[in-house]
Amino acid sequence: MNRREFNLGLFGALGAIATGPVRSQPRLRVNGKRISDHLAALSEFGKNPQGGVSRVAYSEADLLGREYAMVLMRAAKLDVRVDFAGNLVGRRAGSDPSLPPLVMGSHIDSVPEGGNYDGDVGSMGAIEAAQTLAENNVATRHPIEVIIFQNEEGGTIGSHALSGELTEKQLGLMTRSGRTIREGIKFIGGNPDMLASARRKPGSIAAYLELHIEQGGILDAEKINIGVVEGIVGITQWDVTIEGFANHAGTTPMNQRRDAMLAAARFIDAVNRIVTGVPGRQVGTVGRLQALPGAYNVIPGKVVLGLELRDLDANKVQMLFERIGAEARQIAEATGTQFGFNEVNSIDPALTDLRIRKLIDDTAKGLGFTTKLLPSGAGHDAQEMARLGPVGMIFVPSVAGISHSPREFSRPEDIANGADVLLHTLLKLDAMKLR
Ligand code: GLV
Ligand code: MN
Ligand code: MN
Repeated sequence: MNRREFNLGLFGALGAIATGPVRSQPRLRVNGKRISDHLAALSEFGKNPQGGVSRVAYSEADLLGREYAMVLMRAAKLDVRVDFAGNLVGRRAGSDPSLPPLVMGSHIDSVPEGGNYDGDVGSMGAIEAAQTLAENNVATRHPIEVIIFQNEEGGTIGSHALSGELTEKQLGLMTRSGRTIREGIKFIGGNPDMLASARRKPGSIAAYLELHIEQGGILDAEKINIGVVEGIVGITQWDVTIEGFANHAGTTPMNQRRDAMLAAARFIDAVNRIVTGVPGRQVGTVGRLQALPGAYNVIPGKVVLGLELRDLDANKVQMLFERIGAEARQIAEATGTQFGFNEVNSIDPALTDLRIRKLIDDTAKGLGFTTKLLPSGAGHDAQEMARLGPVGMIFVPSVAGISHSPREFSRPEDIANGADVLLHTLLKLDAMKLR
C-alpha cells in the first residue's frame, strides 16, 4: 500500500479500533516528509564520498550528529539531557506521575562505511512520534522518553549501561574512534565514573518500542509493509590470538614453520564448517584479522582475529563455541601454534513481549498494512532494554536486504508507515494497564 492509499483508507481502518476499549487517535499521523528531511540532514554528519556515513561512536561526526538530534528533540518539545552513560534522553511529562515512562529509541552511530538508515530511522521516527504528539496536543498518561543510545554498533554500550554494568575491561576497550569507551563517554558528555547512577532498575520502564530497518531482505522480497519482531539474537564476540613463530620466509623450510596465518586460515574455515554443520539460523563470522609483523618476507608470528557467533538461543552459541575451541586445539597441534580466546562482548538474546507483538500487529493491520512475524539477526538496543521491561520492535523493509553498507536504503513511505505504527502502538500502550 502506498502513502496515498494509506491516507484515504486511514479513517475507515482505524474507526474499528477506536470503538474498542483502547483509546486511539484515528486521524493522527506522523509527517513522513519531515522524517525524510531529518534523515537527509543527519546524513551530512560523517558523510562519505561513496555514499553513506562513517559516524562511528565517539567520533567528531558522532558528536555533531548528536547535537543535531538534540536540536530536533527540543523542537519536539522534549526536555533533553545527556545521561551519565552518554545517552541522549528526551522526556515529556505524562498526566499520571505515578506511572513509569514509555520509552522509544534507537541509535545514530554507524559502522565504518555504513548507511543512512540503520538506527537513524528509529531515532528520527521516535522524535517524529514525539513531535506529532506535541503538535496535536496529545496528552499521555505515561511520561514519554525518547532515548538515542550511544555506541550501539560497538556492542549496545549505551543501553547496556542503563540495564546492566559496564565492566572496567569494557570501559578500557579501544573503539574505532581512537578513543576507549571510557574516553568516549567523557567525549560525548557522559561521566564514566558515575555509571552506577545511569542505571535503571527492572520495572522502571512501562515498555520500550524500537522502530528499525529490517537489514535483511524478507519484507522487501515478500512486499510486506511491517515486520513484527519476535526476538533479537544474542551476540558473543571474541578476540582470538594465535601465537606462532615469526621467521625468515625465504630460509625456513615449509615443514619447520609455526605459521600463525596458516593456523588462522584453517580456523576461519573451521568456524564456517562448524556453524553450518548444525540445523538452524545461527551465524558465525570472522570479520577482522591482523597478521604480525605483516610483511611479505616474514612468516606471521602472531595473528589476532575477531570471532562472532549469533543465535536466538544462548545455549547454542555456547555449544558452537565449545566445538570451535576443540577444533582450534587440533589446529594448534598440527601447526605448532597456540590459540587464546578473549571474550570482548556478549549480549543476551531477547524475546519481544507477546502482548506488544500482538499490539504492533493489530495496530499495523488496523492502519491497513501487511505484517509478518520475524526474528532479528542484527543486535539492537531493545535487547538490553528487555532487562528493564517489556519490549517490542517494528521493522520496515530494507531494499534488497542490504545493510551496514553505503547502499543501505529504505523507502520514505515505508519509513513513514513504520513511524505511524510506532506512534499508534505507543498510544495504545499508554491506554493499557501494563502492570
Ligand atoms: C548491530 O547492528 C549488529 O547487529 O551488529
Ligand atoms: Mn541498528
Ligand atoms: Mn548496525
